[in-house]
Amino acid sequence: MSERRTILVTGATGIVGREVALRLARRGARVRALTRRPESARLPSGIEVVRGSQADLAGLDGADAVFLMWPRLGELTAAKEAVARIAAHAGHVVFLSSAAVRDGVSRYDDVIGQAHHDLERLIRDSGVRWTFLRPAAFATNLLGWAEQTRTGEVVRGAFGDVPVTLLDERDLADVAVAALLDEGHANVVHELTGPELLTPAEQVARIGRRITKPLRWEELPEPQWRERQRAEGYTDADLDSLRSAYAAMREHPAPVLGTVERVIGHPARTFAEWLDRHAAEFTDPLPAVGREDAGVVLLSTWTLDTPERQRAAADAAAEAWSGMPWPDGLLSYSLLLGTDGRTILHYSQWTGEDAAARFRESDPPARVRGIDDAVPGIERSGVTSYRGYRSVVPDPGMRAGCVVLVSFATDSGRTARYFVDTLLDEYHPARRPQAGSVPGMASNHFHVAVDGTSVVNYAEFRDEAAHQSVVDSRLRADDPVPAFIAATPGLTPLGFRRYLPYRQLTPPKD
Ligand SMILES: NC(=O)c1ccc[n+]([C@@H]2O[C@H](COP(=O)([O-])OP(=O)(O)OC[C@H]3O[C@@H](n4cnc5c(N)ncnc54)[C@H](OP(=O)(O)O)[C@@H]3O)[C@@H](O)[C@H]2O)c1
Repeated sequence: MSERRTILVTGATGIVGREVALRLARRGARVRALTRRPESARLPSGIEVVRGSQADLAGLDGADAVFLMWPRLGELTAAKEAVARIAAHAGHVVFLSSAAVRDGVSRYDDVIGQAHHDLERLIRDSGVRWTFLRPAAFATNLLGWAEQTRTGEVVRGAFGDVPVTLLDERDLADVAVAALLDEGHANVVHELTGPELLTPAEQVARIGRRITKPLRWEELPEPQWRERQRAEGYTDADLDSLRSAYAAMREHPAPVLGTVERVIGHPARTFAEWLDRHAAEFTDPLPAVGREDAGVVLLSTWTLDTPERQRAAADAAAEAWSGMPWPDGLLSYSLLLGTDGRTILHYSQWTGEDAAARFRESDPPARVRGIDDAVPGIERSGVTSYRGYRSVVPDPGMRAGCVVLVSFATDSGRTARYFVDTLLDEYHPARRPQAGSVPGMASNHFHVAVDGTSVVNYAEFRDEAAHQSVVDSRLRADDPVPAFIAATPGLTPLGFRRYLPYRQLTPPKD
């Protein structure tokens, strides 16, 4: 890029547009990000956020190029006006089209193909320089299964045996940015696919392995599939054409294309790499640890002998909770599974000690018996009450997928507080710019036991690998923290354990 170009990004809070805006800014372009709700855009300060939408194209004046995604497929009159305005103001448009468009075809059975074809036609006819990105299915479509993977072990859908590729939104954005900033993309079509063919049934199994849950695919009978799709606005004719398209793909899977690598110089990201980023979204979320109304937190662990029994015990615990009235003063109850395949962490937030004590006195023995009958031989630690003491949240926007509990025995609450204060004020990387940031660390929440006998750091990381790299790179001999811990009287380190979120129970809505 020779001069600093100004790019208008539409759909800039969306899956692709956000990635495009962030990358353009990193490459030094002047970015105008178009959104109907600037207040919730969560884009970095170097990006100019412009209030508007594809309907008004605010921010078009002075833009050299436009990244165009069109959310209202089929609204051709509005699209015609928008394209005419782009052609009058900007020299180049990179349009997020679809793999449903095929060269030389102008009549389509399906609305998606027709709408994208019509938009491409309008753009070609406008005289503006164009680049069309024709992506195959986005991997983010799979997030539509998250509700099912969070609450159960079965994902239900149609065409589970048809192999397809999945495109990582970062690859799509990398190609879009190359088209917007580099030479050689004018009046070019980029057909884009992911790097491997996977059936939906395989995708579900891989997500399951990643989140350590035995997920499986269940094929939806055709009448149910049709009913579901009709509720989404599809006509029977649309469904017939979709069905024949899938039947054809079953026989002749769509080819895996090398366009991503050709344009951006690295192979398209694999499904495993996409899961590195999104696995946490398929599990129950972690508790909102920093919530201010949590007067007291109860922590306890159970130990089992196998991963199967670990999961069965967690299921039995969740089942037992859901079968009784929600206790007064309980704000949330989370079950997390230790990555050791044996431990279960119970993390519950209460309005205060009284509420927690009242529940513990009245906890019906039948609840505990029911769990023991379902899964005998659970080893239970005692329950310890903690209060949140101090937190550091270096990356509030990160979706954490792994919790690391770092525990210390203390001889008094004073020792515990002294330890946390000194650690955070003197040693924490977030407080010592020279120590650098810790990639993949979302937060540290220090909890001090009400009786002063322990302190735990409830630390959230993007995933297990992010914590492992901290262990590998930060706990070196020259790191001052271990020496500080060893020199603090009355403090005994008890080690750490990693947990993945499993179930989160929250009060029923009235
Ligand atoms: N999903 C796939 O598999 C696939 C495959 C091929 C092609 N595509 C193409 O990709 C497009 C989707 O891109 P994406 O996933 O990045 O989009 P997205 O995440 O749904 O983002 C759409 C953004 O557009 C903005 N918007 C403006 N007017 C809107 C309106 N009337 N309705 C909804 N949103 C509106 C919204 O931002 P504000 O709320 O901030 O204004 C929203 O964040 C599809 O429409 C299709 O053209 C998708």
